[in-house]
Amino acid sequence: MILAPSVLAADFGHLADEISRAEQGGATLVHLDVMDGHFVPNLTMGPAVVKAARRATRLPLDVHLMIEHADLYIDAFADAGADWVSLHVEAVPHLQRTVTRLRERGLKAGVALNPATPLVSVEEIAAELDYVVVMSVNPGFGGQKFIPGSLDKVRRMREMLRRRNLAAQIEVDGGVDEGNIKALVEAGAEVLVAGTSVFGQGDAAAAARRLLEAAR
Ligand code: DX5
Ligand code: ZN
Repeated sequence: MILAPSVLAADFGHLADEISRAEQGGATLVHLDVMDGHFVPNLTMGPAVVKAARRATRLPLDVHLMIEHADLYIDAFADAGADWVSLHVEAVPHLQRTVTRLRERGLKAGVALNPATPLVSVEEIAAELDYVVVMSVNPGFGGQKFIPGSLDKVRRMREMLRRRNLAAQIEVDGGVDEGNIKALVEAGAEVLVAGTSVFGQGDAAAAARRLLEAAR
């Protein structure tokens, strides 16, 4: 299981310290939320912040693009130091071409689905993916409540991947906390994104440890 703290909930003035605290607590991937004010109603960060995170840690960086026209920015995020990149099935019209582009840049390729987007929307591309992101909140903001139906969606995603013998990992993003993390892992999630439940708790190292403990 991989714990991926989302820096959206961190203190941006002390990004390097925040990331290293989470790392001390056992986090092994850093999640960066990129929002464009069009696909989602919020603006967050661009390649410059990814570059700053790259300097702050040796952990791989998981860049979650909640943006339109993602093709225009793949090179910029790859150059900034991204290792994993996910795009939204709802925002990318020529998904197969875009996923191919990610792989050509040596990135791990992921596709994210909003809560109301059915599993079938990734079936045709699933064989080309390193990971799928099951959104358990509507993207746009940190600190939202976990949508309970997401647990069963993770189960059904796991079943679809298993049935087709595909290796894509399942990442869950939104509202992950000590109360639901174990059930999510049991349902088949392998990458757990956690913003508020890591950086919103005072001591990020202790919070990451508690989440990993709860997942066991
Ligand atoms: C939501 C983002 C999430 C979010 C997670 O649009 O994609 O990564 O920051 O934050 P929490 O864990 O607070 O829901
Ligand atoms: Zn995210």
